[in-house]
Amino acid sequence: MLNKASDFLCWLVALFLSPLVKDKELTTVSMGIFEEIILNILADKMKFTYEIIPPSDILTLGYLQPNGSWTGTTGQLQRKEVDMCVTTSAPASSKTPVQDISYPVVYVDSAIVIPFPKEETKWIVTSTFKNKEASTNPTLKKIADNMRKHPERRILNAFTVDDISTIVKEEAALVLVKSTAESFIENSYKINKECRVTLAEKTFFSRPQTFSYPKHSPIVKTVDYNLLLLQQAGLIQYAEKRSAVPYNRCSVSEAKKIAANKVVPLKLKDVAGAFSILILGFILSFILLFIECIFKKMSTK
Ligand SMILES: *[C@@H]1O[C@H](CO)[C@@H](O)[C@H](O)[C@H]1NC(C)=O
Repeated sequence: MLNKASDFLCWLVALFLSPLVKDKELTTVSMGIFEEIILNILADKMKFTYEIIPPSDILTLGYLQPNGSWTGTTGQLQRKEVDMCVTTSAPASSKTPVQDISYPVVYVDSAIVIPFPKEETKWIVTSTFKNKEASTNPTLKKIADNMRKHPERRILNAFTVDDISTIVKEEAALVLVKSTAESFIENSYKINKECRVTLAEKTFFSRPQTFSYPKHSPIVKTVDYNLLLLQQAGLIQYAEKRSAVPYNRCSVSEAKKIAANKVVPLKLKDVAGAFSILILGFILSFILLFIECIFKKMSTK
């Protein structure tokens, strides 16, 4: 394909998730498989190689500083240090001046990570989100308002902690993309060997997730066109399935099911009856054998 995009032989790509970011020091969460699959298909089809440049300041999408500079991957795009950011994110109007966004790659549900399994806490927390108008977005607005009211409670390093249960404490909830939350929970389970956090049963507000480019990037059109082709070919769904956590063992309903079907190990007293019948049988057959021997001896005389 001869077009603008082929001017970039090696694209510099912003991303902060492993396994694409191979440096184990940088991030501990095992996400990024979805991005890796999509990026590799794009690179293969559009004939480019790429180099991953993680943001050097903060391993997130970044936030706006008072002087107008962005941090994180958005900062990389603003400074035009990279050709593209492949960490999928929800488009934010606040970033429009510094980045262009791609065709929606996936739609994701937001989920709420809560401590496990405090049922009462669960319902108090989720009731705040009971607004069901998912298309308009009062839920996110409410959350955003809350975050503005309590900026000190914002967690900027959620992606870089080993164990999500260390930041989701009593009376607190963390709103995350569902698949991301499931990865965190799986990670936490592996570390603690128990479920310390879980997801509130209901998800809310399905949102499009996009890649992003520096403002007025020449590659937007071709990449978008190829993303559309990938979607029509079912490759996006394939990547989603490949990268999903197989099942959430810390889901409350799952845990209940496991408890209900729990296999109780057999104890000696459960099988004592069988053993006593067996022993009785041995004794009886021994006596019979003995009697038979006596009769045989008597008849041969
Ligand atoms: C904006 O502020 C940050 C930190 O306060 C600084 O690192 C950055 O260089 C500043 N940007 C500009 C364009 O002055």
